[in-house]
Amino acid sequence: MSVVLDVKDLVVDFKTRAGNARVLNQVSLDLREGEILGIVGESGCGKSMTALSIMGLIPNPPGRITSGSISLDGQELTSMPAAKLRAIRGNRISMIFQEPMTSLNPVFRIGDQISESVLLHQNVSKKEAWKRAVEMLELVGIPEPAVRARSYPHELSGGMRQRVMIGLALACKPKVLIADEPTTALDVTVQAQIFDLLKNLQEETGTAIILITHDMGAVAELADRVSVMYAGHVIETGSTRQILDDPRHPYTRGLISCVPHLEDNPGDERPYLEEIEGVVPPLTELGTGCAFAPRCKHVMDRCLTTNPVIGRVSQQHSVACHLLKEKELA
Ligand SMILES: Nc1ncnc2c1ncn2[C@@H]1O[C@H](COP(=O)(O)OP(=O)(O)O)[C@@H](O)[C@H]1O
Ligand SMILES: [Mg+2]
Repeated sequence: MSVVLDVKDLVVDFKTRAGNARVLNQVSLDLREGEILGIVGESGCGKSMTALSIMGLIPNPPGRITSGSISLDGQELTSMPAAKLRAIRGNRISMIFQEPMTSLNPVFRIGDQISESVLLHQNVSKKEAWKRAVEMLELVGIPEPAVRARSYPHELSGGMRQRVMIGLALACKPKVLIADEPTTALDVTVQAQIFDLLKNLQEETGTAIILITHDMGAVAELADRVSVMYAGHVIETGSTRQILDDPRHPYTRGLISCVPHLEDNPGDERPYLEEIEGVVPPLTELGTGCAFAPRCKHVMDRCLTTNPVIGRVSQQHSVACHLLKEKELA
């Protein structure tokens, strides 16, 4: 499958009072046509920063993309002028943010908000844009879409607002949709509905999706492949099966240690990332060794001095860990 979005060796730095924080360090990941890529990792690992970098929304200052590349259909985004990026954002790449309540404008009808986005990016009449807005509301499962299009955000429930956000994000038929913890603010039943909706929309529209989530159950059900992040690094990437059944990095193993039970008892509560002892270190204090070393049960001398590079263990499966012996790396 062809690669739609290719992130290579991305480095993002933030100036902070405590010094330079390298929030993304040599991050590489790719998103293929029509797939769902899950990004998992504890809070503060750089998942949202990865999303914001792709969207061209890293606040500069204090942040900046120091090096690396982000390419969309072969077009480099990191060096693109702001005006050109604005034309791509919301059009060819869209994002659903963590807090839907703050992303919808409270003073405009939802139909107008979707129409605006269509008018901004596509050469259509106002009437056609409104029609598209109603179609999008229908697509995301809003009942009586033609009537609902005239509602204001506060007239809708949290789950319905998140549906509107998804409709808004998909209105221009983007190649790539980034969903950053799209269900955090919703209750469990509604979360499951939104995940189902994303899966169905992916199948219907063919949009490739990056799904950032804490919910390993959702990853197991939705994602084709998974990238695991720790302290600004991607430390393991593989197919969802490889990550769940054969995780290689001690951090990944810690994260998913509760997941195998999912298949034994499909009716069980969705498992969440299991706590791993210790915390993500301050990004201003990372030395030259592996960032996970202070929390790792298998730590060796060289882990303290040298950061492991990412290596391939099989087709599609790559890991950054000194535990993997040279011969295991394909
Ligand atoms: N404005 C900022 N200045 C400095 N560091 C920041 C800023 N915003 C976020 N960070 C740091 O960037 C790191 C990655 O954050 P983020 O991508 O939001 O994590 P995640 O989405 O995985 O929870 C965190 O350590 C966070 O403290
Ligand atoms: Mg985040």
